[in-house]
Amino acid sequence: MNIINLDETHSTNQYLQELLQNGELEEGTCVRAGFQTAGRGQQGNFWESKEGKNLTFSIVIYPDFLSIIEQFIISQIVSLAIKEVLDHYSEDILVKWPNDIYWKDKKIAGILIENSLIGNQIQHSIIGIGLNVNQETFLSDAPNPVSLKQITNRDFDLDALLKEILNTIFKFYLKLIQGGAGEIRKQYLNCLYRRVGFHSYSDENGIFRAKIEDVQDNGRLCLLTEAGEKRLYYFKEVSHI
Ligand code: BTN
Repeated sequence: MNIINLDETHSTNQYLQELLQNGELEEGTCVRAGFQTAGRGQQGNFWESKEGKNLTFSIVIYPDFLSIIEQFIISQIVSLAIKEVLDHYSEDILVKWPNDIYWKDKKIAGILIENSLIGNQIQHSIIGIGLNVNQETFLSDAPNPVSLKQITNRDFDLDALLKEILNTIFKFYLKLIQGGAGEIRKQYLNCLYRRVGFHSYSDENGIFRAKIEDVQDNGRLCLLTEAGEKRLYYFKEVSHI
């Protein structure tokens, strides 16, 4: 396992991106930082993580066998891997579409995947993960953060947890390479947050109640409204309320 440990960097996703500009890295290379000065979240948000308390790391893979329209499967394997590891330590870990990891109604981990494309294919994929581990209080206005320590009342060894997560991601990646995409998609659907029953959502037209019907291979969420209407959403087009 090739792990580059940094005390501090701007963002591990960006650091890995810069390394890749200077030449190819071994697939699976991981950059991990004790502190990020400009940790990036989804939608241009800042990722809060107290120095030395959590896991903030990025991995590079070269899934050149995937086309652009299949890229969502990377989010699925990473989400499933983190869930599988966290399941060893707590109940009620779920994946909130598209790729947030939740404990009950709170967010314990976030994933930021940045793909570089050549034509229709993925040249490299940088998978950035922020997992709240030993942090006890959160300062930012990020919605509902929670850490493993807050859930379990104990501290975790960050090195051991990182290795467990990396091994599990590579296990799912191997499964994908070996033709397991169908099974991965089924497993992902089964562990979604609010998978069962009707819940409140909001889109550009307002608030409505719907249940999750499916997640398409391209990542689109398919909701079924109470009136029986199917609605399809790409990321950021709909939110839970
Ligand atoms: C989210 O907003 O849910 C995604 C958060 C992703 C944060 C991680 S921390 C390690 C990696 N480096 C970054 O700058 N961001 C990701």
